[in-house]
Amino acid sequence: MLKGKKVVVAVTGSIAAYKSALIVRQLIKAGAEVKVVMTASSHDFITPLTLSTLSKNPVFSEFTSSKESGTWNNHVDLGLWADIMLVAPTTANSLSKMASGESDNFMMAVYLSAKCPVYIAPAMDLDMYKHPSTKENIEKLVSFGNVIIYPGSGELASGLEGEGRLAEPEDIIEFIERDIKSKQPLFGKKVLITAGPTHEALDPVRYIGNRSTGKMGFALAQIASEMGAEVTLVAGPVSLKTPNSSVNRIDVISAKDMFEAVTNEFSNQDVVIMAAAIADYTTLNYSDSKIKKKEGDLSISLKRTTDILAHLGENKTNQTLVGFALETNNELENAKGKMERKKLDFIILNSLNDKGAGFAGDTNKISIIDANNKVTQFELKSKFEVAADILNYLSQNH
Ligand code: CTP
Repeated sequence: MLKGKKVVVAVTGSIAAYKSALIVRQLIKAGAEVKVVMTASSHDFITPLTLSTLSKNPVFSEFTSSKESGTWNNHVDLGLWADIMLVAPTTANSLSKMASGESDNFMMAVYLSAKCPVYIAPAMDLDMYKHPSTKENIEKLVSFGNVIIYPGSGELASGLEGEGRLAEPEDIIEFIERDIKSKQPLFGKKVLITAGPTHEALDPVRYIGNRSTGKMGFALAQIASEMGAEVTLVAGPVSLKTPNSSVNRIDVISAKDMFEAVTNEFSNQDVVIMAAAIADYTTLNYSDSKIKKKEGDLSISLKRTTDILAHLGENKTNQTLVGFALETNNELENAKGKMERKKLDFIILNSLNDKGAGFAGDTNKISIIDANNKVTQFELKSKFEVAADILNYLSQNH
């Protein structure tokens, strides 16, 4: 969740400021890029050197870094740089300033400039925490859209016991990760994606297959998982790596295997996206031994496979069903026909007449047709960008 995220950690003057070293370390370990800002009074509790060493970046406390040379630290740039701002620990004083917008130090100017989600972890003595003005400041900060990481209970620096202890660093990191996850557009959705070709065996060494590489389906699985979905990827025989360890991958070979894998999972799913190129015909008589060559021609009889999407369309309860149509002629008409026959919520059309669309390559050009026959056209893009377009469309419309 935090990998590659730009995080501004703001440290204010509480004894709990020593915990900010652990917070910064854990953010770095989670793959975040961290810049620290400190209020002047926090320097009494932890040094800028500690936090700059751990964050691998200079620490800022003042508006100017060198008065003689007139160099200033740009609070606006820093606020806008951040994907996340975490104020930890937040004293009663800083809470009050943040609630009223009193910009009398560098940290406050960064906070007011930031457009990203701001997490606030208060730390103070229990009576200060219970004070109506503190409660009111917290309520006000929540109403501005800030997220409070509430303090825990326990022994306080004053020797008193009660609420006000800064949440533990690992709990703060976990809280932020959970919060980011819960705000993802596909959070809570179970999405099954099929990918790749199927192989229909003729004998132990031969099969009928197609040119699908699985790239489009794998890109969909990766982006759906990054958008917070719980992803099941049913993959035909392809040589692609599973996008990440949270994707549940089921490998299959034939159209029959794919039918079984998909129908086994179907009742648990919210969305099914069938990006696989499934054989429409399989061998009528599989030969247990290798077919030997003989004089003359060879004919092989084929029989129809089950249309998985059509089967799901007949049996769906409240799942969203998405199909792909790869067409060479009468594209729109054919795609619309498939959508109606298979009772889909929408269908993604790629035309082999469009350069860069279809199998094998790293790009695709699609149109999305919905159940009301509304057509949305997209430019030629990488398969990852196409996957993002499809999944954004899904999250906005279903
Ligand atoms: N599909 C399926 N089961 C099959 C064949 C296809 O679920 N046995 C799915 C594909 O994954 C795709 C959609 O149906 O999402 C359209 O597949 P396609 O083969 O293009 O359509 P068909 O209906 O088989 O039509 P045709 O072969 O005539 O183009």
